[in-house]
Amino acid sequence: MVYVYILRCKDNSLYCGWTNDLQERVLAHNEGRGGKYTRSHAPVKLAYYEICQDKSAALKREIAIKALTKAQKEELIKMNEAFLNFPEIETDRLKLRHIAAKDEAAYDEMTYDYDVNNFWACYKPGERFVHEGKEAPTWEAQYAEKYRKKSMINWVIADKNTDEFLGEIFLYKFKNKYQAEVGYRLKKAVWGKGYASEVLKAALDYAFSKMGMKRIEVRCLKGNDASRHVIEKCGFVLEGTVRNGAIIDIFYDYYLYGMLDTDER
Ligand SMILES: CC(C)(COP(=O)(O)OP(=O)(O)OC[C@H]1O[C@@H](n2cnc3c(N)ncnc32)[C@H](O)[C@@H]1OP(=O)(O)O)[C@@H](O)C(=O)NCCC(=O)NCCS
Repeated sequence: MVYVYILRCKDNSLYCGWTNDLQERVLAHNEGRGGKYTRSHAPVKLAYYEICQDKSAALKREIAIKALTKAQKEELIKMNEAFLNFPEIETDRLKLRHIAAKDEAAYDEMTYDYDVNNFWACYKPGERFVHEGKEAPTWEAQYAEKYRKKSMINWVIADKNTDEFLGEIFLYKFKNKYQAEVGYRLKKAVWGKGYASEVLKAALDYAFSKMGMKRIEVRCLKGNDASRHVIEKCGFVLEGTVRNGAIIDIFYDYYLYGMLDTDER
């Protein structure tokens, strides 16, 4: 894996470099083995990283980042904060946190519940839902890897007092750093308590105000009236109906909703 990174130095100046081993490289800079500049500006803290395809791509990206103004670098860093320290969020009744080993059984139960997935679009109508995407040995490992690659922030929705697993909400399909899609589902036992609306509002607030997103989309299958209600209640605007759109390996009519940072929430 090759990375381009930005360090924040002791005097708030920013240093950009590339490496094959991010953790070791940050350590090297702090131990005075990372070059002249950081030796005299330590301690340094990792402020930003990008995964590049290979060394040549990393070198090109390093040059491009070095050419940015300080303000532009700060903007890049701000948007990346969500991927440096997993963002935990609290709402009135709930907390959004990273999935943990103790959630695996409850997550499996929700994932293989036909009713939960009826409008989740991963099943073929008439067949029992089978999740085909469990590439890693545990859900925790799978979501940790997606987070590390910055392709997804997947929050477990948990009861604020008991920490019991209730469902999940996630941001994914990041495009041009300013656009993402949101998805969510709750275990059946807790439907109808207003939880989806509560966490969707919190995730939108986070995406717009902390990550600097400019547009969030959500897709909702035709017939999923409960979710449609949640989406509209949170202020999304219906932008169209996609006819027979591909969702994973099925085709379905779905509503496409969007929200802009400038829209009222
Ligand atoms: C959709 C889902 C997330 C809703 O979760 P929830 O916590 O029950 O949602 P909320 O309680 O916040 O809100 C549901 C709202 O829809 C309303 N509602 C419920 N069933 C409805 C229906 N069949 N038609 C219209 N409105 C309905 C409720 O009255 C409530 O409205 P209110 O807050 O104005 O009273 C949950 O049912 C779920 O996990 N479904 C399976 C997965 C899924 O569909 N995910 C979304 C994919 S787009």
